[in-house]
Amino acid sequence: MKILIVGNGGREHALAWKASQSKLSDIIYVAPGNPGTSLESRVCNIDINITEIDKLAEFAYKEKIDLTIVGPEKPITMGIVDKFHMMGLNIFAPNKSAAQIESSKIFCKNFLCRHNIPTPNYEYFSEIKPALSYIDGIKLPIVIKADGLAAGKGVVIAKSKQKAEYIIKNMLSGNLFGNAGKRIIIEEFCYGEELSFIVMVDRKKNILPMDTSQDYKRIGNNNTGLNTGGMGSRSPALLIRNEEIYQNIMDQIIYPTVSGMDAEGNQYIGFLYAGLIINKLGKPMVIEFNCRLGDPETQSLMMRLKSDLVDICIAGCKGELSKKNIQWHSKYALSLVLSSGGYPNSNYYNNYEIYGLPKQDYPNSKIFHSGTCLNKNNKLITNGGRVLSISTIDRDFKIAKKRLYEIAKSIYWEHIYFRTDIGF
Ligand code: GLY
Repeated sequence: MKILIVGNGGREHALAWKASQSKLSDIIYVAPGNPGTSLESRVCNIDINITEIDKLAEFAYKEKIDLTIVGPEKPITMGIVDKFHMMGLNIFAPNKSAAQIESSKIFCKNFLCRHNIPTPNYEYFSEIKPALSYIDGIKLPIVIKADGLAAGKGVVIAKSKQKAEYIIKNMLSGNLFGNAGKRIIIEEFCYGEELSFIVMVDRKKNILPMDTSQDYKRIGNNNTGLNTGGMGSRSPALLIRNEEIYQNIMDQIIYPTVSGMDAEGNQYIGFLYAGLIINKLGKPMVIEFNCRLGDPETQSLMMRLKSDLVDICIAGCKGELSKKNIQWHSKYALSLVLSSGGYPNSNYYNNYEIYGLPKQDYPNSKIFHSGTCLNKNNKLITNGGRVLSISTIDRDFKIAKKRLYEIAKSIYWEHIYFRTDIGF
């Protein structure tokens, strides 16, 4: 089979690496891919950007691609699936309309409310004055969210009224996230542990849950500082060993979401990522939905996935997920993101040569590329906020942590930054 993976981050590198191990795949194209994907066997980078939907569809049509998997939300929310379906091509992701569950936080919250799916209380605003009056007298901290896509950075927790006012004014005037912040949600802050619960959904509403994962969202150790796309991940999550919580998530969140979307004419097909918070009493609530796999959760999940990725995604396209079981290694997987100093601010240090990458992977470990590129002298340099992710798997969680940081220590570039508490 010919497979196309759309994207150029660590998540897509992990998907390409896993797809290359499938007995069903002959060749895997990654558009546009990165220097890491180009090194994988039977994987070939294609010079088409993730937003060039027509070009991607033409390529898939001409090359008779059997399966397309899309990593990032951008092409999904732009309608890549609608285009591929029009051309009779197999693609495992939701269409543009269903992808609103991620592309508009207001759409998502209103949907959750209509279907009584647990989520923190909220209001939404497009004008500064009513938003400021609303926060007068409500309990702090509060969560302020840009309605649109902001690369995982559009969520701010305000602990003081002064900060809340600053964020509200700057989001709504377009200073912080452009158009994405011109409508905002103000949400009650909930205490608890966050969890990434990702399921596969097909057109017959069959649901195949993946094993659980958790990401480390904040830039600093002990979950401090700004939100990022994710500075590390682990799988399985700590909490979900509890069967009751798992069943509550399925019954109170996943099933009503899939059937609710269908009932409203937004049939959901593809990976559905529920970002959840579990409170002290074990009650799950939806913080957000994503219409895709997580990054860097996918890196940890792919390390643990025993089943054939291509096989389950093909089943997803055919409406045959009920015939599949996903098998996972019972070991722990951990992933650590190595980033450029300054990230998640946009003026991070960039274009520095990367030293110390091992020629061969360490045992039970893998280095996935995200923001890397080759310069004109063919040297590998940093080319983004999140540069590499190191993933490792072990039966012993402590050994996995130790190995992760041993590998991290051997890699260097100027202004490298990573959290030192992943897995701790
Ligand atoms: N790691 C969070 C995300 O992928 O949205």
